[in-house]
Amino acid sequence: MTAFQTTLEKSQALKDQIPDDAQPDQPTGRQALAQWLALPELWLDVAYLRSQLVVTATPDEAAVPFDILRTRLVCLARQHGWRRIAMVSPAGGAGKTTTAVNLAFALGRQSGLRTLALDFDLRKPTMGRVLGARVPLNMTDLMQGQGHLSSVLRRHGQGMAFGLNDGSVGQSSEWLQSVEAVDLTARFEATYAPDLMLIDLPNLAQADDAIGFLPNVDAALIVVEAGRHSSYDIDVIERQVAEQTRVAGIVLNKCTLPDSPFGPRRTN
Ligand SMILES: Nc1ncnc2c1ncn2[C@@H]1O[C@H](COP(=O)(O)OP(=O)(O)OP(=O)(O)O)[C@@H](O)[C@H]1O
Ligand SMILES: [Mg+2]
Repeated sequence: MTAFQTTLEKSQALKDQIPDDAQPDQPTGRQALAQWLALPELWLDVAYLRSQLVVTATPDEAAVPFDILRTRLVCLARQHGWRRIAMVSPAGGAGKTTTAVNLAFALGRQSGLRTLALDFDLRKPTMGRVLGARVPLNMTDLMQGQGHLSSVLRRHGQGMAFGLNDGSVGQSSEWLQSVEAVDLTARFEATYAPDLMLIDLPNLAQADDAIGFLPNVDAALIVVEAGRHSSYDIDVIERQVAEQTRVAGIVLNKCTLPDSPFGPRRTN
């Protein structure tokens, strides 16, 4: 797996232009914890996960860059009271879902933190495939009031659960921008009281799905494929995202530059 670089501070100027919301209610409660612990467990096939470039499910040196990303993200989230973090990318195949899953496992290993990673790429949901897990329903079924939230959730350990889909749905853009999608996000939050939600969205080039949903999150991580976009393009994307929500940072994925001994390189 190639190295990647993070520039979590790169967007500080843009981010600071948007006032922070009031701190959300702290997720506590025995009921939420009981519901969380009652979720069906994810069956881990470490060899399969590795074939999907998921390296954080078990302790490994390759997981270190994701641990660094996790720690920076958690610091930012605590500092600003963020709970919902969207994963977006300017074009398809940047590695957004792979990064989301790796980051999710890294977050799951952080004690005292409950993270829910939701596959809201209704157009092309692949989180289940990356994990080698299947669920019987789609997010849109839940949006229509069918089934229980737990039907699409798979928990790993005490700190991590994934929300998956059975397959893609038509009119994904309309679904993602619907009141029902916002309501579903709130229901996940109210039922399981996660500290953080990572929400995997369709890439920005595909349609208006992701941009339309971004006002519902606290911040977004932009995953960019190294060498595919000019710095001008990345600036444009960053501004587009910043018009809808705060930019938590940019992950430069599939980067072939060696890491600096002083940590991941920054592009700014
Ligand atoms: N750091 C990496 N190095 C090499 N290959 C990678 C890396 N990250 C992801 N990939 C590979 O790139 C491909 C696309 O990854 P992924 O599905 O995560 O992208 P995506 O941004 O979610 O795509 P989409 O826009 O279609 O949702 C997959 O084959 C994945 O294994
Ligand atoms: Mg994806």
